[in-house]
Amino acid sequence: MSPPKPVRKAVFPVAGLGTRFLPATKAVPKEMLTILDKPVIQYAVDEARQAGIEHFVFVTGRNKAVIEDHFDFQYELHDTLEKRGKQEALDILAKYQPDAGTTSFTRQQKPLGLGHAVWCAREIIGDEPFALLLPDMVMKDKKGCLSGMMDLFRETGGNIIATEEVAWAETHKYGVIERGNDRGAGFEITGMVEKPKPGTAPSNLFINGRYILQPEIFDLLEKQKPGAGNEIQITDAMQKLAKTQQFFGHLFTGNTYDCGSKEGFIRANLAFALDDPELSADLLVEISKLTT
Ligand code: UTP
Repeated sequence: MSPPKPVRKAVFPVAGLGTRFLPATKAVPKEMLTILDKPVIQYAVDEARQAGIEHFVFVTGRNKAVIEDHFDFQYELHDTLEKRGKQEALDILAKYQPDAGTTSFTRQQKPLGLGHAVWCAREIIGDEPFALLLPDMVMKDKKGCLSGMMDLFRETGGNIIATEEVAWAETHKYGVIERGNDRGAGFEITGMVEKPKPGTAPSNLFINGRYILQPEIFDLLEKQKPGAGNEIQITDAMQKLAKTQQFFGHLFTGNTYDCGSKEGFIRANLAFALDDPELSADLLVEISKLTT
């Protein structure tokens, strides 16, 4: 068997409306809200870069131009910092500056759902497997969730879905997979169901927002009818792809924060701040003052 084509490109769908964060997201995309000193989108891009991704594809929408600016070279800022000798600030900018030609931006003209947003990247991805990262799901782990998935992909090829354990009573809130036999560092996926009714989930492993998909998903997305919430859903198209291709699961054991919700966003800020030696001691004192 020839080795699978490598995963070189990653898609970041950032065209959602972010209604759960209104009014903050009226003019500022939710992906640009910050966890400490980095916008939410930067965490997913860093995770992808750590996993060896070479090209970063953003599916944006109206009012999202500032995301493109964030990954651009800011000449005036750079020039001013240089004139003032602010080397530390220049180093920070350099660290997060993508190389020229490694980013692409395409627009989802109408927010018709996550599946539709992914389909909008088809021309840029072409005929090769790709990673899909939902930037709202911010992951905290040394190795990086996508790096673990890439290891599994090199063993198995096919399609990979990252999963995580959740309390059984919570399974109805998520996309949940059915776990088959172990395979390499992961396991076979024998089924998936979106938001199963309480007591009917095939496992307590939920789909956490990281995927490696084969390009055949695009033809299925093109024909996919709207599903839950009247939106074109990626899970519906994956269920169809699973009839002809294999899906494997990676079990992620780090921490995930759903930064599309206020609670997850605050928890992420707390977790990253408590990990920062410059902030943690004072923050712990403040928390203790507020809670006693
Ligand atoms: P969400 O379900 O969180 O929706 O999208 P949303 O619109 O962004 O946020 P709320 O619910 O109104 O607060 C999950 C992911 O899919 C993207 C979002 O940007 C987010 O990364 N998405 C969703 C799109 O790119 N396009 C869509 O049409 C829908």
